[in-house]
Amino acid sequence: MFTPQGPSLRELTVQALSSVEHGYDLLASKFDATPFRTSDRLLTAVTSTLETLGPFDSGLDVCCGTGAGLGVLRSVCAGRITGVDFSTGMLTRARNAHPTADLVRADALALPFAPAFDLAVSFGAFGHFLPADQRTLFAQVHAALRPGGTFAFPLPAPPPVGSRLYWTLWGFDAAMRVRNAVWRPPFVMYYRTFRLADVRTRLEATGFEVSLTAIEPLGRREDGSPHCRLVVARRK
Ligand SMILES: C[S@@+](CC[C@H](N)C(=O)[O-])C[C@H]1O[C@@H](n2cnc3c(N)ncnc32)[C@H](O)[C@@H]1O
Repeated sequence: MFTPQGPSLRELTVQALSSVEHGYDLLASKFDATPFRTSDRLLTAVTSTLETLGPFDSGLDVCCGTGAGLGVLRSVCAGRITGVDFSTGMLTRARNAHPTADLVRADALALPFAPAFDLAVSFGAFGHFLPADQRTLFAQVHAALRPGGTFAFPLPAPPPVGSRLYWTLWGFDAAMRVRNAVWRPPFVMYYRTFRLADVRTRLEATGFEVSLTAIEPLGRREDGSPHCRLVVARRK
């Protein structure tokens, strides 16, 4: 799962004992060699799915990190692309990888944008937002989109109850809850707090019209359901 180019166990431990923002500053130089960076396979599949929904003008990557989603925006947006993140270290890496993108340091819970973007995307970051903060996050993205603008993000199907992945994610979240009960600052990162039904309800309560599109290149499960869906939330 981890490569020699990635962080050592000690480095990951120090990161996990920090705040989210400082933790990512520490991890930034090696982030792209970790499994936490969104995979090129998923990015390519999302790009081809978004291409069927466009065209799009200006684009925003929320919690852009080192810029994984900026490449997607570059492919599907005709206008300017912008990444926003609160980690200076991650933004520095994003700037190196995407020199023509606008990169803004800000908390996603207080976005500093007028309602101008045509498309907003986000990858791999929702676990950092507790359910109450997800409402604020969605409201902030909603306010950054022009009327009719689109907020799109991939949402993998949950692992079957009792599967190895199910127990791995359950164990990770349990360990994180223990860590956050005994250690400050908190490091909010949970895998099981972003379920489709709840997410849909929160998006609709924010004023989005929500539809789901199967990300076909990622295939289907034995029961015929997609491995991963693109949640497409349109600002009314
Ligand atoms: C797992 S990384 C994902 C990065 C990138 N989107 C990707 O898919 O590779 C999560 C990112 O979210 C950012 N982040 C977490 N909480 C944030 C917040 N409240 N405001 C802005 N950025 C945040 C972190 O700094 C980090 O860069």
